[in-house]
Amino acid sequence: MKKTIMAVAIGAVALTAPNMQAMASEDLNFDAYRQMLADGNPAELFEMEGEELWRTARGPKNATLEQCDLGVGAGVVDGAAAQLPRFFADTGKVQDLESRLMHCMETLQGIPSAEIINGKFRQGERGKLASLVAYVVTHSNGKKVQVDLSHPKMKEMYDMGEKVFYYRTGAMDFSCASCHSQDGKRIRATQLPNITTSKGAAEGWGSWPAYRVSNSQFWTMQHRLWDCFRQQRTAEPVFASDVTIALSVFMAGKGNGYEAVWPGVKR
Ligand code: HEC
Repeated sequence: MKKTIMAVAIGAVALTAPNMQAMASEDLNFDAYRQMLADGNPAELFEMEGEELWRTARGPKNATLEQCDLGVGAGVVDGAAAQLPRFFADTGKVQDLESRLMHCMETLQGIPSAEIINGKFRQGERGKLASLVAYVVTHSNGKKVQVDLSHPKMKEMYDMGEKVFYYRTGAMDFSCASCHSQDGKRIRATQLPNITTSKGAAEGWGSWPAYRVSNSQFWTMQHRLWDCFRQQRTAEPVFASDVTIALSVFMAGKGNGYEAVWPGVKR
């Protein structure tokens, strides 16, 4: 098992050239990101689009999302993302930001969730949902992650998320922990957080959604998780399914108390 990971890691480094050089260029990259952040995160364009979508009457019901309750009151976006995922009494479910927005789009605007669940990332209604995410998380930027785990359903999801995190599967017999349980681990030029620690969980959870400089795309946490399942060489998760929300509860709950940087900027 360890050997396989080492082989993958060594292979990855070999692709990018000598290790030291890769590290030096990564440091340069980070300087470039910091500069970019100072100049304004390109995710701002998505935030602006999201804000407009929030206020625009759309869908078969021709309604805005201004009555959407993200857990802190109808229409309130300030601080809402920092407290998600949470248990919602009206649906009887634990929902993350994306599944909750999807619920609002369906109930308020009449946009069928199936359209989003069966859609593609960055396209159609799922793409619009991502812009809404950008808008909402901006109103929790710099706030401390504060996920309430006291409800039994939250506890259940946390435990499920923890189990999934350590569950080995797929052709390579990888779990999330295979790539995310060591300090200072890198794959290619990317530093991977140690998600088994609170600080690492907060780094991972609290920096997505993010604008990805390498492909000029804005990715939500659902998108990030989908890509990690793919890297794990296992079945793709269904959009906003319980397994993705359970992993989110696990990471957010572990990262409680740390400040979120939303939206993030990534390689
Ligand atoms: C084969 C290795 C591998 C596996 C297995 C894997 N990941 Fe990842 N993960 C990565 C890589 C590489 C990145 C960084 C990608 C990038 O920035 O382009 C990443 C990034 C992340 C991030 C964002 C970290 C940050 O600070 O930006 C989170 C959160 C995450 N993974 C969670 C998971 C979860 C949950 C699982 C299990 C379902 C998982 N990963 C499985 C390789 C893996």
